Amino acid sequence: MQTTPPSPDGADILCEILAVNEALSGLKDLDAILDRILTESRRIARADAGTVYLVEDGRLRFGYVHNDTLIGQGKVTKDVYADFTLPMDSTSIVGHVAATGRALDIADAYAMAPDAPVAFNPAFDRKTGYHTTSMLTLPVITSQGAVSGVIQLINAKDDAGRPVPFGPQARTLLPLLATMASVAIERAIMTRELILRMMQMAELRDPSETGAHVTRVGSYAAEVYHRYAQMAGTDERELKKTKDLIRVAAMLHDVGKVGISDKILKKPARLDPEEFAVMRMHTVYGARLFQNSTSELDAMSGSIALNHHEKWNGTGYPGRLDGLAPAQAPGPPKAGTEIPLEARIVALADVFDALGSRRSYKPPWPDEKILALLREERGAHFDPDVVDAFLDIFEVIAAIRDKYTEDQPAPDAPEGPAG
Ligand code: C2E
Ligand code: SIN
Ligand code: SIN
Ligand code: FE
Ligand code: FE
Repeated sequence: MQTTPPSPDGADILCEILAVNEALSGLKDLDAILDRILTESRRIARADAGTVYLVEDGRLRFGYVHNDTLIGQGKVTKDVYADFTLPMDSTSIVGHVAATGRALDIADAYAMAPDAPVAFNPAFDRKTGYHTTSMLTLPVITSQGAVSGVIQLINAKDDAGRPVPFGPQARTLLPLLATMASVAIERAIMTRELILRMMQMAELRDPSETGAHVTRVGSYAAEVYHRYAQMAGTDERELKKTKDLIRVAAMLHDVGKVGISDKILKKPARLDPEEFAVMRMHTVYGARLFQNSTSELDAMSGSIALNHHEKWNGTGYPGRLDGLAPAQAPGPPKAGTEIPLEARIVALADVFDALGSRRSYKPPWPDEKILALLREERGAHFDPDVVDAFLDIFEVIAAIRDKYTEDQPAPDAPEGPAG
């Protein structure tokens, strides 16, 4: 930002900033926060596209992307599960901004001065047919002064939708937005780490399991919900809010396994009926952890913990219960829409992931066998509409599975800044 822009009205700025802060503070999960950061910063700058990167282990890791031209608005897309990192140096524009901690405002990427400290890499444009013109790239700086990420906005648009340079409003407001973003991002990373630690106590006592399982089930559930809600015509605000809650709550579906002994949890063989009766109690144990709270997240977490092993045809567990008191006899079954939607979705996400994973009692299944089982259980174990939503977005499901493997480092970026 070389020039001093004419300052927009002070009261306007304050209103904008308070609105953005409010929008960010209600969200729980990192992906929902990054999504909202892009929504708000693109709205202020009238930008067609944007990408967020986060600093991780001294590199920039891809975090989230929007692109109205290539992806469209509010779609379920595998692009947000891209997985690559870039070095924090002048081999890319985002790397340069991360390394210097200073914003870079480019009016036309194809008309940059030859002596500029960093060059535009047109590889992404060539591959996708996109045409990058203006670019505003901002560092996300923590209260300690460290760069924790980069927001890159592409192609500000005029009233006719033509790409123009970024305006004074964007150049003034976006650095403030980036500051609030850093607080929200830090909080969301802490939430994820806290959940993963909780799950480590519950099920990662088995060293063959990692947080990747839990993260996958959360993302599968969020994206299946998104598709289901679109098909059901759910309004956009409700959709985004519930998608955020379900991602976090689904990660906690098996937290009640903390109450199951190692002897049963790690048994390297099939459980006998008595052991399975004990294992079934993980649903009730999980629900108990959330029962005395009034927060929406706890309510959804409790609902998922309790109901994720119910089946559409009424043959699951634990069934209808009279409260969550210890030593309950199995209740009469729940079936169909009596089972909360979020639990019908997590039931499918959980089984899909369990079948594809190695367990102490079984090898991973190949995809054909898993998909055959899901189709067979459509309308039996699973809600048929949830199976349809899942199969509809299988490409996205596969991208999630590829991204969250057992703690593999992310591959390097194949190419440049807009990717
Ligand atoms: P999990 O391993 O996360 O499995 C979740 C669900 O995926 C299972 O719920 C079941 O619906 C499905 N699933 C997992 N493996 C298979 C399989 O080989 N075939 C089929 N058709 N479905 C499968 P479920 O059965 O209610 O089990 C809940 C939890 O109980 C499991 O979570 C696991 O922790 C434990 N468990 C279940 N069966 C056994 C077993 O035979 N041995 C041991 N050691 N644990 C078991
Ligand atoms: C969205 O991606 O549509 C917002 C919610 C989320 O990602 O969890
Ligand atoms: C778990 O239930 O073990 C974690 C997620 C899954 O693999 O089902
Ligand atoms: Fe479970
Ligand atoms: Fe599970």
